[in-house]
Amino acid sequence: MSQNFLTFSFLFFLLLSSPNHSYAQKHTKKHAKNPRIPCKTMVFYFHDVLYNGKNSKNATSAIVGAPAWANTTIIAGQSHFGDLIIFDDPITITNDFHSDPIGRAQGFYVYDKKDVFTAWLGFSFVFNSTQNKGSLNFAGADPLMNKTRDISIIGGTGDFFMARGIATLMTDAFEGDVYFRLRVDIKLFECW
Ligand SMILES: *[C@@H]1O[C@H](CO)[C@@H](O)[C@H](O)[C@H]1NC(C)=O
Ligand SMILES: *[C@@H]1O[C@H](CO)[C@@H](O)[C@H](O)[C@H]1NC(C)=O
Ligand SMILES: *[C@@H]1O[C@H](CO)[C@@H](O)[C@H](O)[C@H]1NC(C)=O
Ligand SMILES: *[C@@H]1O[C@H](CO)[C@@H](O)[C@H](O)[C@H]1NC(C)=O
Repeated sequence: MSQNFLTFSFLFFLLLSSPNHSYAQKHTKKHAKNPRIPCKTMVFYFHDVLYNGKNSKNATSAIVGAPAWANTTIIAGQSHFGDLIIFDDPITITNDFHSDPIGRAQGFYVYDKKDVFTAWLGFSFVFNSTQNKGSLNFAGADPLMNKTRDISIIGGTGDFFMARGIATLMTDAFEGDVYFRLRVDIKLFECW
């Protein structure tokens, strides 16, 4: 009996002193009745202006690594294979490049197949608006010739604490090798 009480007091003490205590109070995990129905959906666009030797003023991305047969000014031939691009792209709610950004898409993509355009993406949406603060983290293969591609949402912070889900990417527009706009349909299956 007294041992039970001691164990209980100890656990209670652990709970109180846990640094995650405030998170536990602030966030409660919402389980959907059907795990295949998202608990939150959102649509955003992001805009990538690749440096091409002439547009250093408005470029939002740059080739930082290229194969030995290419260079970091002009995107490589052979489906851009081997090019590593770092980006800091504005995120908007509509597809209008000039609308007010609500955050930045920040990370990299690397072209990883010689005979067809395909890339691997690793990036975060860093939100900075009155609606949303925090981040969502994305990773996955992007066979970018396909109309829609799914990548993983592997986590989040702030308003998106511990979020997980799927993002469906669609190329909404592109202009040569310099500009593309992606539409991102976010479906979270774990919300807190
Ligand atoms: C970037 O700037 C160049 C000229 O400096 C302009 O021609 C081009 O339209 C701009 N691109 C975008 C996407 O605003
Ligand atoms: C980079 O490669 C392109 C295409 O192969 C070439 O036209 C250009 O001169 C190269 N630039 C530099 C700085 O090496
Ligand atoms: C977020 O937005 C505020 C207000 O516009 C700005 O002062 C702040 O620097 C921004 N923070 C980041 C990380 O962009
Ligand atoms: C992309 O499209 C090709 C051809 O339509 C298809 O075979 C492939 O499975 C698709 N890949 C993904 C990841 O959806």
